[in-house]
Amino acid sequence: MNRPNPARIDIQKMSGYTPGEQPDPSRPLTKLNTNENPFPPPKAVLDAILSATKQNLRLYPEPSSISVRQAAAKAYNLKPEQVIAGNGSDDLLTMVLRTFVGHKQLVTAPAPTYSLYETLTKIQGGIFKDTPWPDDFSLPIDDLIKSNAQLIFVVRPNAPTGHVVPLADIAKLCENAPGVVVLDEAYVDFAEDNGLSLLNDHDNLIITRTMSKSLGLAGLRVGLGFTNPTLAAEMHKVRDSYNLNRLSQAGAVAALDNLAAYKPGIAAIRNERSRVTIELQNRGFTVMDSQANFILATVPKDTLNGEGWLNALRNKGYLIRYFGSDPRLADKIRITIGTKDEMDGFLQAVDELL
Ligand SMILES: Cc1ncc(COP(=O)(O)O)c(C=O)c1O
Repeated sequence: MNRPNPARIDIQKMSGYTPGEQPDPSRPLTKLNTNENPFPPPKAVLDAILSATKQNLRLYPEPSSISVRQAAAKAYNLKPEQVIAGNGSDDLLTMVLRTFVGHKQLVTAPAPTYSLYETLTKIQGGIFKDTPWPDDFSLPIDDLIKSNAQLIFVVRPNAPTGHVVPLADIAKLCENAPGVVVLDEAYVDFAEDNGLSLLNDHDNLIITRTMSKSLGLAGLRVGLGFTNPTLAAEMHKVRDSYNLNRLSQAGAVAALDNLAAYKPGIAAIRNERSRVTIELQNRGFTVMDSQANFILATVPKDTLNGEGWLNALRNKGYLIRYFGSDPRLADKIRITIGTKDEMDGFLQAVDELL
């Protein structure tokens, strides 16, 4: 390039978000790296998407995804004005940043956490500062409040640890936070409880959910945000005009109308999560208690290091996740919970490597 790079300096300085690998479909790798659901969605959902392909794709979709918002309101006992839909929950997180964070304003989250928050903050021209999890992984409420951040993200169950903090701590955080609190519930369907009831008492709370994990629709890209009508109305202003396409809207409505059909798959994943946790502990790994569809395991000493496990398991056909750029995660690997057969194969691969 002959002329100076015309991109904004802050964009030039940042590295973009690195998503988990989506392997070439011709390579027979078992994907235990991006927390997708190993089970397909119910037939009713696939049928709804298929039938949408026969409708008028010539026409734009509903701008605010009202049918999805109505279905979500019915499923979760909310009003449609409290619901906002996104092209994946990442799209909702982008809307949150656009709506609530101005130039040089502060954003924080207990860390390690989902690294997209930092990327989105930088794109918005804000400043992201980690608030470290303490050693016992309790919610650092005082530190989060003291950070004076305009926006605080808490993932519950947290990624990549899978642990949950008490809902009472989230309530306390909302009460005392100087700005908005986003409770990212991407993995909440695998957990014991959720934060929906907190919406009644806290008008600075936004809950985000995704259909990519428990609802088996990562390829469709649908996320949901729940908050009060005032904040939702502000977020609608910054949304891409038609942020969900017709196929996503049809699939999302069908998924919400068929939540009961997902229960056996979710129960199977939770059972596997307990089994694999114990199996890995028996093999010398330290595994945090997880309420998500993944586990974070510290690799046993005197074996391979974290990156070594990533590469060796890959050679055996199992793709897992390693976050080596964060020193706190250097000796850890994250494993998505798949089917029983997939996890049997994974454990056998681990045995061969030990
Ligand atoms: C904590 C967390 N939030 C949000 C997302 C994004 O999900 P979506 O596929 O809905 O964009 C992920 C995906 O991995 C995640 O781990």
